[in-house]
Amino acid sequence: MRPYKTTSAALSDVLRLSQSMTYKCAVGGIPFGGGKAIVVADPARDKTTELLHAFGDAVESLNGRYITSFDMGTTMDDVRTIGEVTAHVGGIDAASGNASASTAQGLLACIKASIRYLQGAGKSLHGTRVAIQGVGNVGGRLARLLAAQGARLVLADVDRQLAGRMAEELGAELAGSEEILAADVDVFSPCALGGILDETSITRIRAPIIAGGANNQLASPSVGKKLKDRGVLYAPDYLANAGGIIDLHYQLNRAPRENLQAHLHGLGDILRRVYERSDETGLSTNAVADEIAEEVVRRGSIDSAIAS
Ligand SMILES: NC(=O)c1ccc[n+]([C@@H]2O[C@H](COP(=O)([O-])OP(=O)(O)OC[C@H]3O[C@@H](n4cnc5c(N)ncnc54)[C@H](O)[C@@H]3O)[C@@H](O)[C@H]2O)c1
Repeated sequence: MRPYKTTSAALSDVLRLSQSMTYKCAVGGIPFGGGKAIVVADPARDKTTELLHAFGDAVESLNGRYITSFDMGTTMDDVRTIGEVTAHVGGIDAASGNASASTAQGLLACIKASIRYLQGAGKSLHGTRVAIQGVGNVGGRLARLLAAQGARLVLADVDRQLAGRMAEELGAELAGSEEILAADVDVFSPCALGGILDETSITRIRAPIIAGGANNQLASPSVGKKLKDRGVLYAPDYLANAGGIIDLHYQLNRAPRENLQAHLHGLGDILRRVYERSDETGLSTNAVADEIAEEVVRRGSIDSAIAS
C-alpha cells in the first residue's frame, strides 16, 4: 500500500514486483506462479477496514488463483482484516511463526554459500564481518543468527534506537545508514530498501560479497554487470530472500513442515550454481538467476533448470 503519484507508476511497480515474485517462486522451488497486488493509498491516512475489505473482495473474486499477504505499508493485522472477507490470505498463521524468520534463515544459507564460494568450502562464519543495513523483521533476525555463529557485525538503521538496542545486545558496531555502504567488511547485507545499488553507490561498497534481504536492490539490471566487473559477488535478491515465500508455501500446508529447514538451506546450493554459471558464462549473477527462473517456468522444475 503506497500513495503512488500516477496510475502508470503504480502499474509499472506492480508489474516489476510481480515478475520478481514469479522469479522468486521459480528459484525457490515452489509451485506458485508469483503475483503481487498493490493498493494505491497512503497507509498512514487512508487505511480503513472498508478499504481492506474491498481489497479482500477483489482477492476473493479470483477464487484462490491469487493468495495475498502483507508487505510494504501493510501488517499481519491488516491481512487478518482482509481475511474476514476472503479465505485466500497467507502469512497469518501465528502457530507457524513469522515468515521473516525463514527469510532470515534462507539469507543466512546464501551468505554462507557466498563466503564458501569465495573463500573455500572450509570457511565458517566465525570472525566473518557482516554489515547489515536495516535491522527490522529480516535484518534483525539475520543479525541474531549471524552473531550466534560468531560473526562480527556492523549495524545501521534509520531508527537509531532500534539499531542501538540491537548493537548493545549483540556487541555490534554501529554505522550511519549511508556510511554502512563503505564499511570494511566481508559481506554487505542490504535489508532495508530497494534500489540502493546504483552506479554511484556501488563504487563506495568495499565488501566483496553483497547478500541481503531487501527486494529489488539493483536500481537497474545493468548494475549487476557493473558489480561483476568490479569483482563483487552479488546474491540475486529474490533468491536470497525467497525464504519468506517458501515459508508461506509450508504455512498453506502444501508440503510437510519438517522439510522447511532443508528447503531453506537448499537456497545456498542454488546460489552456488548461479555463481558457477556466472563465472562460466561471464553473465552477471542477476542475469543468470533470471535465466534459471525462466527455465524453471518453461520446464516446471528447478532441478532440471540448475542441472543444465
Ligand atoms: N519480511 C520478510 O519476510 C521479507 C521477505 C522478502 C523480502 N523482504 C524485503 O526485505 C526488506 C526488509 O523487510 P522487513 O520485513 O525486514 O521490513 P522492516 O520494516 O521490518 O525493516 C526494515 C528496517 O529498515 C529500516 N530502514 C528503512 N530505511 C532505511 C535506510 N535508508 N537505512 C537503514 N535502515 C533503513 C527501517 O527503520 C526498518 O527497521 C524489504 O525490502 C522487504 O520487501 C522481506
